[in-house]
Amino acid sequence: MRKQALTYDDIQLIPSFSKVISRKNISLFTKVSKHYYLCAPFVASCMDTVCESRMAIKMADAGAVGCIHRFLSVENQCKEVAAVAEHIQKNELQKKWMLLSADWKEDFMIPVMAAVGVNDDFIERAVALVKAGANIILIDVAHGHHELVKLAIAKLKSVLPKHVDIIAGNIASAQAAKDLETWGADGLRVGVGGGSLCTTRLKTGFGVPNVTCLEDINAVTTVPVMADGGIRTSGDIAKALALGSQCVMLGSLIAGTKESPGQIIEKNNGLFKRYRGAASLETKTVHGKEQRNVEGESTVIPFKGGVKFVLQGLQDGVRSALSYGGAENLQEFKPDYLIVTNAGLTEAKPHLL
Ligand code: XMP
Repeated sequence: MRKQALTYDDIQLIPSFSKVISRKNISLFTKVSKHYYLCAPFVASCMDTVCESRMAIKMADAGAVGCIHRFLSVENQCKEVAAVAEHIQKNELQKKWMLLSADWKEDFMIPVMAAVGVNDDFIERAVALVKAGANIILIDVAHGHHELVKLAIAKLKSVLPKHVDIIAGNIASAQAAKDLETWGADGLRVGVGGGSLCTTRLKTGFGVPNVTCLEDINAVTTVPVMADGGIRTSGDIAKALALGSQCVMLGSLIAGTKESPGQIIEKNNGLFKRYRGAASLETKTVHGKEQRNVEGESTVIPFKGGVKFVLQGLQDGVRSALSYGGAENLQEFKPDYLIVTNAGLTEAKPHLL
């Protein structure tokens, strides 16, 4: 038992000596899984109000990736994946990724990601998704340090072609990371109970604050880590990357955009979209699931316009962070941090207005 755990607001990164002349030259090239690379370290979360093909296509245009959610029939999820794969097979996209990052090589495969569970039809679903063009399958379960995930990785590895990577999660401990890696995971989705709509910690008492969670896991793993849940700003992204994560998964930050699934709602002279937890009552109801084990909320959030501009803002913020950290790329970005008090946190936000 340890006495204290930290999350993003508990720390601030310490600026280090920098020789970075222009933020434009900073590379955000990274890995999302053992064999797949990104030009920007962002993954759209596999939630039904975050990522279908429209979102995944815009993510790809930005050098990032979207994970197509699994709350669809196999046929419909495959259609979404096929639409993304078709966009990705275009020559222009390869050229775009080469322009986005000098590290991108022509023979790299642009990632196409889709989620499966560990029950019912998940094998036939995964096989169909790969036929439709997916090359990364993400095992999307709330408690990834689980026998069923071990069995699912083994089964998926035995039936899917070799070029397919498996990302598994969610996990929140070093032992889980070691085990999932031993079981064959090519990437880890890390974070339990920290998402903006999660009620897991309230319902169950389980979960690990994000900074401690990422530190513990990044200390022992050799496969790429995707920090997931609770990321509200580009500063949080910088902290997750500084702690050794290769990329971040985004929910609330890119929900409410033009490309997130769902209608724009006009209310009180404003524009909104719905954002709901994967384990919320609303999601379970909409998808005809049993209305038990609810561990998430649902809400409306202000409409943000095109996700392209949100991603640009995030990239600008992360590039700026690397410049403060004296790093020209994510591999060099290893700033130290300090634990801050509440007064420090107040100072960190605009406090005149
Ligand atoms: P953010 O903070 O980016 O979090 O909005 C997105 C992540 O939250 C997780 N997620 C859930 N966790 N109950 C939970 O405990 C839920 O209903 C739920 N829905 C999503 C998930 O990891 C996602 O990527």
